[in-house]
Order: sequence, then structure tokens, then C-alpha cells
Amino acid sequence: MIYFANWKMNGLEKQILEYVETLSNHLFLDTVILALPFPYLKAAHALLSPCLHLGAQDLSHAQKGAYTGSVSGEQLRDVGCEYVIIGHSERRQGCFESNDLISHKLTSALQSNLIPVVCVGEKEGEDPEQVLTSQLESLKGALTQDCIIAYEPVWAIGTGKTPTTSQISRTCAFVHSWLKENGFENISILYGGSVTPENSGALKSCDHVSGFLVGGACLKADSFYSIITSQTA
Ligand code: PGA
Repeated sequence: MIYFANWKMNGLEKQILEYVETLSNHLFLDTVILALPFPYLKAAHALLSPCLHLGAQDLSHAQKGAYTGSVSGEQLRDVGCEYVIIGHSERRQGCFESNDLISHKLTSALQSNLIPVVCVGEKEGEDPEQVLTSQLESLKGALTQDCIIAYEPVWAIGTGKTPTTSQISRTCAFVHSWLKENGFENISILYGGSVTPENSGALKSCDHVSGFLVGGACLKADSFYSIITSQTA
């Protein structure tokens, strides 16, 4: 399984480095990735145990140059990142990121040898299959077998609401079959949206779910650790 901690814009140096130290004391057989805020990536990398991986939460579509305020894939690699989140709904909505921009960011990540985790998902009231089809179709030219897809229903993010396990299984089966039809059957699918230590065991039983993208419940090391180690219900 793959467990991705998305810290978003939370935490300051002391708290984040203590968190990294705490998790570095555990042995993990699963793939555990910490997507920390940009300013702390380098210091976190110095503390990281070999069982942990570093991720960023976004990157520039461009490789280098006159892009004030942006961070390139090469710069992320330089501070120890192996993964990067792309197209999170908070960026699609809050930063007006389009499918087109997300596809350029995907290309940029792959050129920098970062493993991209591309987020897709419907808003409340939207038809998941329709939204996912258009989001996935827009990635088609850029996608490779090295990518990861995170299915995150927007209405489940940070709300405490989750789809039922059968809804998640059905939607992830839809994503899987789209990937297969397009020659990407080996791409892993993560689920994200209000994953907690309480529901993670049940969510682990969903078909085609190879891990979780966790926001709120990743911020405390013991809570994230409980999600990783919970038994499939
Ligand atoms: P949440 O966030 O776990 O707080 O719902 C998930 C995400 O935004 O990736």
C-alpha cells in the first residue's frame, strides 16, 4: 500500500521536524510519503529514515527561468523529493488550475524524474464518471506508467464525509478500466477524502485502492501511523 501525507499549508519547522523524527523511528513495509510544505523539505530530508519518502504538493509547469514564486521539478529533486502532488482540488479551485495546466505540470514532473500523484474527483452533485472521464482524457498525452492517480471526491475532502466502500470500489473500478483501456493498467489508484484511523481499515477493503492520500488525519504522527497500520476490515 501507498500512504501519502498531504500537510497542505500547515505547520512550522519545529512541529514538522519532530513529526519526521517520530515517523523515522518506525519501520514500514509500505510506501510512506510525506508531502511537506516547500520551506521544510530540505531539513526534513536530512532526518528522513530509508523507510520514508519525500513529496511536494505542487510544482511549476516550467523547467526553469522567469516564473516568479514558482518551484521547478528539478529544484524539488535537488532537495530530496521523489514524489509530487498535481492537480489537487484545492489548486484546481483556489488557484484556478485547468486540466491543461495540470497536464503540463505532469509532463514537467516526469521530465524531472518525480513520481506524479495526479488528483481527480467530482464535486458534490456531479456525476463522478463524467468528471473523471474528462479529467483523465485531458491527461492522456502526458500520462505514463510511472504516475499514480488519486481519486478524491471534492465533497469528501476535509468534511468528515466519505463515500461508502461500495461507491469507492465502483468509482475506482471505473478509473482502473479507463487506465487499462488506455494502456496504463499498472498505475496505482489512491483514495483521498476524510481518511481517518477509524475508517481506514474499512477503506482498505475497497477494490482497486492501493493506498490513501491523507490530509487532516496525517498531521499527527500517531494518527497517520494508525492509518498505515490499521487492519483491513
Ligand atoms: P482530508 O484531505 O484527508 O483532510 O480530507 C485529503 C486531501 O486533501 O488530500
